[in-house]
Amino acid sequence: MAKIEQEFASVARTQGDWAAKPFLPRQPIPDIGSTRIDGERFHSREFMQREWDMIWTRTWNIGCHVSELEEAGDFRVHSLGKESLLFVRGADDVIRGFFNICQHRGNILCQSREGAVERFKCPFHGWEWNLDGTLRQVMHPQLFPQFRAGIPTEELALPPLKVELWGGWVWFNMDPAAGPLTDFLGEAGRHLESYQLERYQLIDHKSFEWAGNWKHAHDAFNESYHFEALHPEFLNFAEGFDVPIELLGIHSRMLNFNHTVSEILPDRSEMTDFRKRMLGQPEGYDGEAKDVHLAIVAQKRAQQGRSHIAYERLNDEQLAHQYHYTFFPGTTFTSTPEMSIVFRYRPHESDPGYCYYDFLITRHDPPGTPRPDHEHRLYRHHELPNYAVAFDGSFDPVLANVLQQDGTNMPTMQQGTASRGFRGMILGEQEVRLRHFHQTIDRYLRGDFPVNGDR
Ligand code: FES
Ligand SMILES: [Fe+2]
Repeated sequence: MAKIEQEFASVARTQGDWAAKPFLPRQPIPDIGSTRIDGERFHSREFMQREWDMIWTRTWNIGCHVSELEEAGDFRVHSLGKESLLFVRGADDVIRGFFNICQHRGNILCQSREGAVERFKCPFHGWEWNLDGTLRQVMHPQLFPQFRAGIPTEELALPPLKVELWGGWVWFNMDPAAGPLTDFLGEAGRHLESYQLERYQLIDHKSFEWAGNWKHAHDAFNESYHFEALHPEFLNFAEGFDVPIELLGIHSRMLNFNHTVSEILPDRSEMTDFRKRMLGQPEGYDGEAKDVHLAIVAQKRAQQGRSHIAYERLNDEQLAHQYHYTFFPGTTFTSTPEMSIVFRYRPHESDPGYCYYDFLITRHDPPGTPRPDHEHRLYRHHELPNYAVAFDGSFDPVLANVLQQDGTNMPTMQQGTASRGFRGMILGEQEVRLRHFHQTIDRYLRGDFPVNGDR
């Protein structure tokens, strides 16, 4: 058992009827093989097309946050691969999703990313659709011999997406035969329901175009083995070494210990100014830096029943640490009782050498807190910002810098994995979520589609 686990076990209750099963005592990391992962999958256009046909068009993914569609007529446009997708709240208060395509000649129908409308009008020839996707008008239908017997309104409706709401997010599936979202999310989804994520407010959303395949982005955020080399400052307030990992059907999770000092640092006691700032600590705390997480559990238990956060629903690990869950294929939730950040890894529309990485921050504010304003921005790969400046206070600059460090590997991984000198990836135990993810991709590409995410 890792040192941090022993320390935590001294205060943590691991028994209980928790919706989120504690990681501790830790399950052995499953042995799912040790073969190398090929580089071809990151570069091949044919592989990219197969992923599109077999994975992206058949799985559940997040379109936008429910709060972005507050009033009837509010809409958001979201891109996934080559598709433009439209989400809108109807006059009947129902949130729907459609392919954002004009049924006349195939123009992109709604060409702003967000806004509020009474109807959607194609800028090319002026055909219009209602908020529920039904056809509203064809311009001068008398000019179309095929409409002389009447306009086939059903055939001209916007093609719908399957849409479900979960955790405060609007999820969609392009496959009309897809099973229910909660079946797809499975046990991992039931764990996260303990946070009541639907009560969190969206406070920021930034997107980055990275010069690497979407799977390199996925892989960069689904192991903690890289913390020591890439994010050494992180070790002063979090553990990244040998963390508990579990595979949950086609999804997976890991536990990131927060509010503590990594067991690989020689001095874990001293409360430096940097540690003080990053660890956060209960008032009057005068213990060792490494033990702040223990005090945080005690503090939150003491607040139980008097806070807008239902700590009683959360196990002790959840009070102090970060639960990191990834839903196949492209959605990560990394959550605490106060904040939940969603990462989306999206394939590029045409080039396997690029991807989009979305960073969506939600916060559990007391009810009635006004929604903070934020501006979405997409940074292209040739204009990547200083990330701390891009988040402008909505995300701690130290953590924004960590994200910047993650992004720097994208072009170099893309280049390196295409080299004749690359022999395939060697994945260790701490990288088992990556192996499981690539195996799940292979499984889908073979035509084995688990409708239920638990299997
Ligand atoms: S392409 Fe949309 S109205 Fe003609
Ligand atoms: Fe990282």
